[in-house]
Amino acid sequence: MNRWVVDKAEFAAELLADPRFLTADFEGVCKHMANAGQPVENLALAYANIPLCHDGERHKALRRVMSEHLAAKRKEITPEIAAIIAPHLSRLMRPGRVEVMSEILSPLVDAFLGRVIDVVIEDKQALAALSPAFDHAMGPRKLIQTDRNVGKVRTTIQQSLPQDRLEAEGRHLALLMLGRDPLLGSLGESLRYIFELESGRSTAEMNFPSTPPETGVPYIERIASEDCRFVGIDLARGARLRIMLQAFSYSAEERDRLRIFGVGAHACLGRPLALDLWKCMTTALSGMDIRLRFEGSIPRTTDYVFTCPRYLNVEVMG
Ligand code: HEM
Repeated sequence: MNRWVVDKAEFAAELLADPRFLTADFEGVCKHMANAGQPVENLALAYANIPLCHDGERHKALRRVMSEHLAAKRKEITPEIAAIIAPHLSRLMRPGRVEVMSEILSPLVDAFLGRVIDVVIEDKQALAALSPAFDHAMGPRKLIQTDRNVGKVRTTIQQSLPQDRLEAEGRHLALLMLGRDPLLGSLGESLRYIFELESGRSTAEMNFPSTPPETGVPYIERIASEDCRFVGIDLARGARLRIMLQAFSYSAEERDRLRIFGVGAHACLGRPLALDLWKCMTTALSGMDIRLRFEGSIPRTTDYVFTCPRYLNVEVMG
């Protein structure tokens, strides 16, 4: 079937540094749809701006522009993170049951990313429907449906931009698609893990590690660009390799755990901002001194790419 799963951390790092393995051709899918008379123009704009959808010179150019944007935004946002997240975390100050995903993390992540792209998208349904965009197995019906939702988010982004900055539209859309689910999933899964492990204790006593202990991006994929041999295995051109990044989050070494953000040419550009947010959020939780009981969590089942709780229920004890 020409499909492989790489679950050894050392092979994953080697594979991601090997130029014979390329990222998936999402633009090709859009061209195919256009040729079939079913254009998905909103997805096409997003993919054209997502560095992850390109290799070689095009990738380098997109990555440079995005990395400049994120570095400038980080300077502006980092001193303000505590103030951005405080109104959302304050929900934990009232005793009773809290559904952490919808009442805290989802609005918190949207407020945070709103600062990265200069607009907060309020349409939660459209935002939730962005996540299949990196699912290579989408058929035409799902592609069209996802394109419609990307279109709704795109319109809000367009309206937020001044006339002289319309070229930022695709970049802001791309950043939202790259940042929202990984952030929501990683924060959600990490808090689920900690709240369950430390259930009944005060947040002041909980052990919050310096990096998120779980990831919302359990795997990434690469395609073999030629017939080749990798770690003693013959691979045919077009072989799809699924690299299990989750394996890194269980390492004892912080250096390895940071690899949940990817390795090599496509390593995550949002990592510094994501870690700033994690640090600030866990410091705030430690300072709150509230006792939490873990009540349960259900995983999201609407896409096959990210890992994220659908519900995360805790009880704030009075
Ligand atoms: C904890 C949260 C996050 C995790 C776990 C995460 C994980 C990843 C991973 C694993 C990759 C590499 C994908 C691959 O090689 O196939 C990646 C790429 C990327 N991420 Fe993140 N990410 C997170 C948050 C963010 C945020 C908040 C942003 C920006 C707002 C962002 C922007 C990017 C960009 C631009 C790339 C593509 C880099 C390239 O292709 O050159 N990420 N991320």
